[in-house]
Amino acid sequence: IKKVAVLTGGGDAPGLNAVIRAIVKTAVREYGIEVIGFRDGFKGVMEHKLLPLTEDAVSGILPRGGTILGTTNRDNPFHYQVAPGEFADRSDECIEIIRKNADALIVIGGDGSLSIAHDLSQKGLPVVGCPKTIDNDLAVGQAKTFGFDTAYAFATEALDRLHATAESHHRVIVLEVMGRYAGHIALHAGIAGGADVILIPEIPFRYEQIVAKIQDRLNKNKRFSLVVAAEGAKPAGGNMVVQKVVAESTDPIRLGGIGNVVAQELEQRTGIEARVTVLGHLQRGGSPTPYDRILATRYGVAAIDLVMQGKFGYVVSLEGEKTVPIALSEIAKGIRKVDAAGELVKAARKIGISFGD
Ligand code: F6P
Repeated sequence: IKKVAVLTGGGDAPGLNAVIRAIVKTAVREYGIEVIGFRDGFKGVMEHKLLPLTEDAVSGILPRGGTILGTTNRDNPFHYQVAPGEFADRSDECIEIIRKNADALIVIGGDGSLSIAHDLSQKGLPVVGCPKTIDNDLAVGQAKTFGFDTAYAFATEALDRLHATAESHHRVIVLEVMGRYAGHIALHAGIAGGADVILIPEIPFRYEQIVAKIQDRLNKNKRFSLVVAAEGAKPAGGNMVVQKVVAESTDPIRLGGIGNVVAQELEQRTGIEARVTVLGHLQRGGSPTPYDRILATRYGVAAIDLVMQGKFGYVVSLEGEKTVPIALSEIAKGIRKVDAAGELVKAARKIGISFGD
């Protein structure tokens, strides 16, 4: 192996630059090989958008959010848009372009990009994956994904700030956080930020239960309440109005989704003034926490180590204190949900947090 290519795919996450930097430094210093980046994920591969990644090119990027390589969400070489509404399998061409420019590929991405990595590896391309998502919902070993720590630290800070204003104004404040399919950010930030109610996709909620919690607080002279809701949180069956609104909102983050609905409903039912804050993409931007910088660095080093060992078709993960390779095929297992019967949820319940169920 003389030259390795790297790309970042899917939604950005704090720590992407730290991974790229670790890959380049290790490749150059430890193995004396070259690294190139493809810009804008797989789209950049198809469009031959290359960037030489020298140590100079990655200097100073460790604390920066985003990705110096750029990324896109939707471009899949197996189902590539060739004209408006027209798609074709261009995976052979994709492999040819990668092979022409490098001896192996490292894909830093979430479930979408890693599934593509798996499919390319099945076709014989030497590929290694690096797991990324702020949602922490990749079923790749037991490891946390980098970006998650930064995202929920930010959501925790938001809850601290909202706490002060909610208490001063005697309001119910709903904080909507990311997490389309899994409620890890809401659960962790909710516990760390002292929320009274946590709503997650894994535990369908009932308004009566949330209202009961708010009422209980009122009885104890607590005239404000904080609710943190994952964007994918859903009411238990039967509330047609809410289901309709959520169903029509194809892009909850952009349009403002469950947070607004919950805040309105709680104001009506309790008579207490309610407000909503949608954190949105603020959770994805920003500088990675030290934890994420270290995790991302370890993943970058582990990925290039795998490449140099000729261990392809794997994604790096962390088991306890050790980085381990996990078969890329594991990605097909789908999303890692919050364990609704797990210790963390139980601990939250024991300290009085309601899940609205
Ligand atoms: O997958 C990560 C995620 O942060 C989700 O929680 C959220 O729904 C989504 O990205 C938003 O993506 P986009 O940038 O496409 O709006």
